[in-house]
Amino acid sequence: MLKLENISYIVEEDGLNKTILDNVSLTFEDGKTYVITGPNGSGKSTLVKLIMGIETPTSGNITLNGVSLDNLEINQRANLGISYAFQQPVKFKGLKVRDLLDWASGKKNDFATLCHYLSMVGLCARDYIDRALDDKLSGGELKRIELAMALCRNAKVNIFDEPEAGIDLWSFENLTNIFKNLKNCINIIVSHQKKILQIADEVILIKQGKVEKTGKYKQIAPLIESNQCNKLRGEHE
Ligand SMILES: Nc1ncnc2c1ncn2[C@@H]1O[C@H](COP(=O)(O)OP(=O)(O)OP(=O)(O)O)[C@@H](O)[C@H]1O
Ligand SMILES: [Mg+2]
Repeated sequence: MLKLENISYIVEEDGLNKTILDNVSLTFEDGKTYVITGPNGSGKSTLVKLIMGIETPTSGNITLNGVSLDNLEINQRANLGISYAFQQPVKFKGLKVRDLLDWASGKKNDFATLCHYLSMVGLCARDYIDRALDDKLSGGELKRIELAMALCRNAKVNIFDEPEAGIDLWSFENLTNIFKNLKNCINIIVSHQKKILQIADEVILIKQGKVEKTGKYKQIAPLIESNQCNKLRGEHE
């Protein structure tokens, strides 16, 4: 179980304090998929960065299965089983796709295993396994490779920040299948997409740095519909 208690994140801007997250308390249970949604700039990415240790909260506590994460660095949190996929995928120059997947799973994988993971994200292993992770890969390809990495990791907590970004719409069904296949762990997905919100055991709606409401998609949907943010409704801006 992952627990956030009274998390606040305040930054200083032009000599003034700016509250980005305001007293957020959330409990994430094992085996469940959570989707965090809310308007642009509401604090979703900040919230998941605090869980991974990329940013440090101003106040509050985070524990994983009773162990405090508060003084742990990113790599120590990763060793405890927290995995994070960025909103903008990171490029690992000099590495090939297979190196990255081997590194993520902590062992050398045979072709069949790599093929299994890559096909789950809609990539043919034969075409991609020896590709370099450089600028030649498209944004969508990189995003898919990052998703394959998450599958390889077998983490206790999988965090995805806008996994749909750059993924073409016809692949959406496959994308939701990936999350359905990540079982026996906690999945935390930041998303604006209805189809992803629909697979959540619980949707968490964040507005202006606060948890506005948590519940099933059907309970949260009316609040989203009434919002003027097009991206939130899964429409193009
Ligand atoms: N270090 C910082 N200094 C100043 N402002 C910051 C800092 N970090 C984040 N912010 C601001 O905090 C707010 C929340 O940012 P965040 O990236 O968490 O939003 P988000 O909900 O993920 O939005 P989006 O849907 O656009 O990805 C934004 O207004 C952002 O500009
Ligand atoms: Mg964001």
